[in-house]
Amino acid sequence: MAATASLELGSDLTPYGGVRPDEAWRAEVRRLAAEQNAVLLAHNYQLPEIQDIADHTGDSLGLSRIAATSDADTIIFCGVHFMAETAKILSPDKRVLIPDARAGCSLADSIDAEQLRAWKAEHPDAVVVSYVNTTAEVKAETDVCCTSSNAVDVVRSIPSDREVLFLPDQFLGAHVKRVTGRENLHIWAGECHVHAGINGAELAERAAANPGADLFVHPECGCATSALYLAGEGIVPSERVKILSTGDMVTQARATKSRSVLVATEVGMLHQLRKAAPEIDFQAVNDRASCRYMKMITPAALLRALREGRDEVHVDPVIAERARGAVQRMIEIGQPGGGE
Ligand code: 13P
Ligand code: SF4
Repeated sequence: MAATASLELGSDLTPYGGVRPDEAWRAEVRRLAAEQNAVLLAHNYQLPEIQDIADHTGDSLGLSRIAATSDADTIIFCGVHFMAETAKILSPDKRVLIPDARAGCSLADSIDAEQLRAWKAEHPDAVVVSYVNTTAEVKAETDVCCTSSNAVDVVRSIPSDREVLFLPDQFLGAHVKRVTGRENLHIWAGECHVHAGINGAELAERAAANPGADLFVHPECGCATSALYLAGEGIVPSERVKILSTGDMVTQARATKSRSVLVATEVGMLHQLRKAAPEIDFQAVNDRASCRYMKMITPAALLRALREGRDEVHVDPVIAERARGAVQRMIEIGQPGGGE
C-alpha cells in the first residue's frame, strides 16, 4: 500500500483537510478508485488537486451526461450535493458518494418543494423549468431541468404561448429572458451568494484597467447585466463580452485570440482555463469569489470517501422516479441529435 505518514487523516494540518495532496496521496486515490471500479467526477470549481486527479472535470451538464452513461460501479462526485443527487437520479443502481455531504449550495436552498407547489398553484398551466442547482424534491415538481449551458435552448424548446416558471436563479433567468425575448417567463428571486457578490462596478473598473481583455461572465453573476451594458455602450467591444457556462468558458479559452481574459465566476475556474490556454493571462474579476461548499471536498475528504465508502447519497426512489424525466430532458437538449 502506498500510504505514508502524510496520508493519516487529520495528522497533518495543511489547508487540505489534514492530507498533503502529494504523490503518495495521488497513488492511493487512484489505487482505491481502480479497486472499486469508481469514476471520479470533479466540477470546475473544485480545488486544483481534486480537478487534476479526477477522471473527468467539467460543468454540471457535462458531468451529468457522464454520470448517466458511465459503466463504473461507483460514482464519486467531487462537487456539491445537488450534483451528486442528480447523478443518483440518473443512475439509481450505482453507488454515488460525495466526499462531504455538508457541501450544499445557497442557490439550491433558495426554493423548496412547498414554495414551488404554491407558485405552480398561481400559474396552473405554466411549464416549470428548474436550474439543476435544486434539490431532488424540487426537481420532482419540475417539467424540465436546465443548466447554465443549455437554459436558452431548454426555454426555446417550449411552445411560445406557454407560460414558463423559471427558478431559482434570478440572474440566469434575466439572461434567458433577454436572449429569448420571452415576456411570459416568470423568474424566482433566488441567487447564489458567490456569483451575486461579483458586481457591475467591480467589472467596469477591471474592464477599464484592462482595455484589451475579453470578459468571460457566468450568467449567475450579479454583473451579467452590466457586462452587456458595457458591450451595448461600446465601452468594451461587444465581441469581447461572453456570457458562458463554466464548460463553455474552457471551449472559448481555446478559441479566443485575446491575450488576456477577465473571468467573472468562482475562482476555481481559473485552474482549468490556465490549463486549456497557458499562454493567456486569466484574472478573476473578484478574487474573493470562492464557494466554501465546493472547497469542502478536500484531499482528505476524497481519501476518506474511498476508504470508508462515505458519504453515500440516497434519493427517495419515488422522488427520484418523478425527477428523472425532467433531468433526462435536460441532458438531451443541446446535445448533438438530442433536441434543440
Ligand atoms: P455550471 O453549470 O456552469 O457548471 O455551473 C454550476 C454552478 O454551480 C455555478 O455556480
Ligand atoms: Fe451553489 Fe453558488 Fe457554490 Fe455554485 S458557486 S455551488 S451556485 S453556492
